[in-house]
Amino acid sequence: MMDNSEIAELNTSLREAEPKEIMTQLLERLPNSAISFSGAEDVLLIELSKKYSPPPPIFTLDTGRLHPETYRFIEKVRDHYQRPIEVLFPDAEAVSNLVKNRGLYSFYSDGHEECCGIRKVEPLKKKLQGLDAWITGQRRDQSPTRVEVPVLEIDTTFSTAQHQVLKINPLANYSSGQVWEMIRLFDVPYNELHDCGFVSIGCEPCTKAIGPNQHEREGRWWWEEATIKECGLHRINIEQDS
Ligand code: ADX
Ligand code: SF4
Repeated sequence: MMDNSEIAELNTSLREAEPKEIMTQLLERLPNSAISFSGAEDVLLIELSKKYSPPPPIFTLDTGRLHPETYRFIEKVRDHYQRPIEVLFPDAEAVSNLVKNRGLYSFYSDGHEECCGIRKVEPLKKKLQGLDAWITGQRRDQSPTRVEVPVLEIDTTFSTAQHQVLKINPLANYSSGQVWEMIRLFDVPYNELHDCGFVSIGCEPCTKAIGPNQHEREGRWWWEEATIKECGLHRINIEQDS
């Protein structure tokens, strides 16, 4: 268990650090960590972690509603890096009840919280019970809800009295431009949707391509307020604002 002062010190010393340096420092202290891969530009985390021995495990949350391109991309990444990617699924009965009671597109009328809760948050919660930290691709420049994202934080959404869960954000200091520069520099495979106007990628019914000068998360849950565009995975970002 890491205390607040150690976390604050690490955030100060790594505030301007490169993603690789952040990973090296934090994996040394938190070896029981895994990369949470969404199938988008956070593939850079996988590229940057390939030299560690052993490299951190990778998991992805299959909501059942991803784009076909994203499923194909996950397999491409598995092949390219020759690393296992654990695919986590939601509870079948919970999905079945949601669909029976509210239909397949309840999020357009009821908001995305219930569906995201069942398809993403619950499976993640289970996974995090066995980890000390998860490694995410969150960046400060991603949205108004993420401008304060630190390099390391206690994930209060998933920690319990018995088990502390930390969240490592190695790309926090990077801009979208820097991430894409590295993806191109290292010839990292990327989701083909990025060539079709998609910048931030989530589930198919809840993600749109964006147009010129739109912010990258405007295509996510576009029917909802920009200030609440967090799905529960990163609920901590809006809890801390309120
Ligand atoms: S979301 O909460 O709005 O969906 P976003 O798409 O910005 O999150 O992704 C931020 C980070 O959350 C990703 O880099 C990844 O680490 C994690 N994440 C988001 N969606 C998934 C997913 N389906 N599976 C695994 N990790 C995910
Ligand atoms: Fe459901 Fe949309 Fe959330 Fe995916 S992003 S889990 S489809 S509400």
